[in-house]
Amino acid sequence: MGQIMVGNEQNEGLSTVHDKTEKFEIPFMLIRPFGPFIVKSRLPQELIDDYNEELEKIIKDKKLVKEFDWSPNLVGKVKHELRVPENVRKKYDGYFEALVDAYIKQVVEDPKGRPFKLQTAWFVRQFPGEFNPIHLHTYCTLSSVGYLKLPKNIDKEFKQESESRRPARGHIEFVYGVPQDLNSHSLMIEPVIGDFYIFPRYLLHTVYPFRTPGERRSFSMNVSVKMEEG
Ligand SMILES: [Fe+2]
Repeated sequence: MGQIMVGNEQNEGLSTVHDKTEKFEIPFMLIRPFGPFIVKSRLPQELIDDYNEELEKIIKDKKLVKEFDWSPNLVGKVKHELRVPENVRKKYDGYFEALVDAYIKQVVEDPKGRPFKLQTAWFVRQFPGEFNPIHLHTYCTLSSVGYLKLPKNIDKEFKQESESRRPARGHIEFVYGVPQDLNSHSLMIEPVIGDFYIFPRYLLHTVYPFRTPGERRSFSMNVSVKMEEG
């Protein structure tokens, strides 16, 4: 198979592939209209710093750790799951609203989008050997995950992993549907500080343990979208 080329006006956006002789350009477009949509974005450094700073304040104080503990609502086998406090929520919720609004408009193909409300956000502090069992999120429509911190030397572990048959350590895996021939049912993602993903709440996901000493820190936020009229 030859290289895939970008489409042009003549073929109305279709890409082309070459046949083995390179003589024929074959119009080619992979249509994948079904299944859950995932958006990937990048968080501004200021937001990452503020979120990290707020969490550092909480974990220094046992009373605050207790006050912000969100783990009774979650399934992670991790050190801490702590609610994101109001002051940073107030500062950055407008940012997330813009992002969620763009996601919804794209998915529903309607410039009006849909009304929605940001719900609870929480930090997840994961250390070597800890993990998050496969789960979905309830009482919401969308969820999200953003990466705030990684163990200093985890790059080495990720590099080793990338050379392995199936990289998984410290990764998040999304799983959807039933495995079928020539069909994709899993998406494995290596966390990168600042990467932010929005996904449907029903999309199963799990986070694998890692070995490198240090903290893998993320936060998640749920969103309720109003689907019906009235
Ligand atoms: Fe989750």
